[in-house]
Amino acid sequence: MTETPQTERSLVLVKPDGYRRGLTGEVLRRIEAKGYALTALAVLTPTREQLAAHYAEHEGKPFYEPLLEFMSSGPVAAAVVEGHGCIAGFRSLAGATDPTAAAPGTIRGDLGRDWGTSVQQNIVHGSDSPESAAREIDIWFPGLG
Ligand code: TYD
Ligand code: MG
Repeated sequence: MTETPQTERSLVLVKPDGYRRGLTGEVLRRIEAKGYALTALAVLTPTREQLAAHYAEHEGKPFYEPLLEFMSSGPVAAAVVEGHGCIAGFRSLAGATDPTAAAPGTIRGDLGRDWGTSVQQNIVHGSDSPESAAREIDIWFPGLG
């Protein structure tokens, strides 16, 4: 039996590369075109504390410090996205983590660039579970998580 996807919330970031390249509108357009609602939106330059909390699961990995450096290099657009099955749904819109491997039709596959830093600079973040979403929403929109 196929389960009906639940109404969920996901935390989406347009990362500094995407924001700098003027891709915020394109990312938000794809989210809305899919039928998801944008229930909170903000543009901000992340603090080290926000990023350490957001990427806590990756602390100690070789890409962690360069990732935090990159993520604090300029503004990001943060959004709370709501819709049926939107956690997996947005990750499907985003495509594979490495834009070089991401399928055409996905945000990373269509818009990612292979500059050698492309795994790090992959345009968007999307929560990977309801628990992550609640935790991440509270980091970027305190009180909403
Ligand atoms: P991860 O949570 O594995 O990917 P996703 O964003 O698809 O959930 O990794 C978090 C971010 O860390 C990823 O978007 C880009 C960066 N990253 C690297 O810079 N190098 C790497 O080898 C990996 C796996 C991730
Ligand atoms: Mg992840």
